[in-house]
Amino acid sequence: MILDGKIVSESIYAEIKEKISKRSGDLPSLVLFCDEPDPSNKTYMNSIRKRGEKLGIEVIVRDSGSNPIEEISELNKDKSVAGIMVMHPLKTADERAVLAALNPEKDLEGRTVSNLGGIVNDEEFFAPPTAEAVMEILNYYGIEVKGRDVTIVGRSNTVGKPLALLLLKKGVDGTVTVCHSRSRDISEKTFNADIVVSAVGIAGFIEREMIRPGGVVIDVGINFVDGKLVGDVDFDEVSQIAAAITPVPGGVGSVTTALLFRHYYKSIERMEL
Ligand SMILES: NC(=O)c1ccc[n+]([C@@H]2O[C@H](COP(=O)([O-])OP(=O)(O)OC[C@H]3O[C@@H](n4cnc5c(N)ncnc54)[C@H](OP(=O)(O)O)[C@@H]3O)[C@@H](O)[C@H]2O)c1
Repeated sequence: MILDGKIVSESIYAEIKEKISKRSGDLPSLVLFCDEPDPSNKTYMNSIRKRGEKLGIEVIVRDSGSNPIEEISELNKDKSVAGIMVMHPLKTADERAVLAALNPEKDLEGRTVSNLGGIVNDEEFFAPPTAEAVMEILNYYGIEVKGRDVTIVGRSNTVGKPLALLLLKKGVDGTVTVCHSRSRDISEKTFNADIVVSAVGIAGFIEREMIRPGGVVIDVGINFVDGKLVGDVDFDEVSQIAAAITPVPGGVGSVTTALLFRHYYKSIERMEL
């Protein structure tokens, strides 16, 4: 079975559109906070702006300026702003300091220490949307996690680590192994898993032999090979033996963007409480 991220994301957008249609008055904006965005960030920011347009949400690009901390503090207080995305990497501003100043309630990407650490106690306002996208796909397609073995390859703060915490939550109840570049015998750990999530950033990293027949494979990777977008998984080979697999493109990435907008709307609801 192909786990189609576009179908999942369309259901999220439908939910957001319905909520927006029932509102009156102007929608607050979503701010993309950046200094010198690189080409991939520019593409990403454009895609968010286009999606915002479709939903009737104003997406503003704000330069970090000469005093980024002051800028962020103003945006934190600004009631016409529901969400802030600090584009990574910031080239001139101190990104860590900017994130430390960011209000966790407007931190749509779950990057602040408070949101990341909050996952441990179920106290986060927002979890990182890519990690959440993996959960959303599993949930949408009714793939049981409870008591099952999940191997994640990759331990970044945006994907691997928060995903491990989400899978370990009480009620989700996965049994999680996290691998990284210093891990030994990764093939054994992926083969023994019911569900494998790859967030490495190397095309073809997950080969057929690494997956147990009937396993579930979620590919977070985004790589370009000869100008073509591919994931970490050798899709043609692995899809022949996996019970379920996400494609790239059209998998986790589509759901990640949709979740950003779900977070944006949650932020509005919180602001209006
Ligand atoms: N679909 C989406 O929405 C989305 C969102 C974010 C990222 N991504 C993509 O997902 C991938 C990972 O992103 P990221 O931000 O998590 O990247 P990252 O910060 O570079 O982390 C990569 C992880 O992979 C591990 N790794 C690297 N080489 C390895 C190897 N040979 N064997 C085992 N582990 C290895 C690294 O281990 P160490 O920690 O030991 O270095 C690290 O933990 C990238 O392709 C990125 O573009 C997709």
